[in-house]
Amino acid sequence: MNDFMKKFSLEGKKAIVTGGARGLNYGIAQGLHAAGAEIVLMDIQELVYESAEKLREDGAPVYGVVGDVSKSEALDQAYAKALELLGGRLDILINGAGIQYRCQAEDFPEERFRQILDVNLVGVFLMAQRAGRTMLAQGHGKIINIASLSCFFGASMIAGYTASKGGVGQLTKVLSTEWAGRGVNVNAIAPGYMVTELTANIKEVNPEQYNNICTRIPKGRWGTAEDLQGVAVFLASDASDYITGTINLVDGGYAVK
Ligand SMILES: NC(=O)c1ccc[n+]([C@@H]2O[C@H](COP(=O)([O-])OP(=O)(O)OC[C@H]3O[C@@H](n4cnc5c(N)ncnc54)[C@H](O)[C@@H]3O)[C@@H](O)[C@H]2O)c1
Repeated sequence: MNDFMKKFSLEGKKAIVTGGARGLNYGIAQGLHAAGAEIVLMDIQELVYESAEKLREDGAPVYGVVGDVSKSEALDQAYAKALELLGGRLDILINGAGIQYRCQAEDFPEERFRQILDVNLVGVFLMAQRAGRTMLAQGHGKIINIASLSCFFGASMIAGYTASKGGVGQLTKVLSTEWAGRGVNVNAIAPGYMVTELTANIKEVNPEQYNNICTRIPKGRWGTAEDLQGVAVFLASDASDYITGTINLVDGGYAVK
């Protein structure tokens, strides 16, 4: 590998991926791992151990840690465990744990709304804070928050989710402003309509909605976890050292149509 290409490599880098047991975050972890990173997948589900096992098949080590990003005390323990597994250094955080609930705004249960903010926004902050402290002490690090297209749109039926992801966008900017001068870059990835285990059945359940959305997407299809890997590896690598505070849409062109 020549010196220029080395800037894109994650060989020797250490990463935590929250919400990494499955779906888009697991897909991003696959990308980081293929680029050479050692990884801790952290998730509220015990499935995380199996996912770590699967990812570790060849290449750098991968570990699983169970942790709830929305509970600060439990998160302290999970974060300490993750850092210990990585030998005390953290170069990359993919801050991806997230939940959703669909309901008309006028009927949206308060408890659900609070729970979504707790995981998607407070959880992202708590995790960024812990990783940020480690990275600021090191003098370097890359934090990549997983936002959403709904950061920019007011899509109906997901008031809690949309409010939380709007917050993730703003949080990305303020953390970037505070930490960029001390070596820590904070960016976000905003996926558009993506096919995952959770949305895989939409084609059968609601073919009209699925097709309408396809028509609305200039690329003509929904995205996949693989579509997020390139931008995640780039933002995690030394090649993006002057990029901070950005929200990177991966939406097949939806937002500009
Ligand atoms: N699927 C999409 O179309 C889409 C679009 C835009 C953004 N996103 C975002 O991408 C991320 C991944 O979404 P996905 O579709 O793969 O969903 P997913 O449900 O498959 O993955 C989310 C993961 O987060 C974990 N998690 C939930 N609560 C947690 C908590 N409190 N602590 C730790 N882990 C927790 C879950 O166990 C799960 O493994 C989320 O932040 C989501 O909002 C998804």
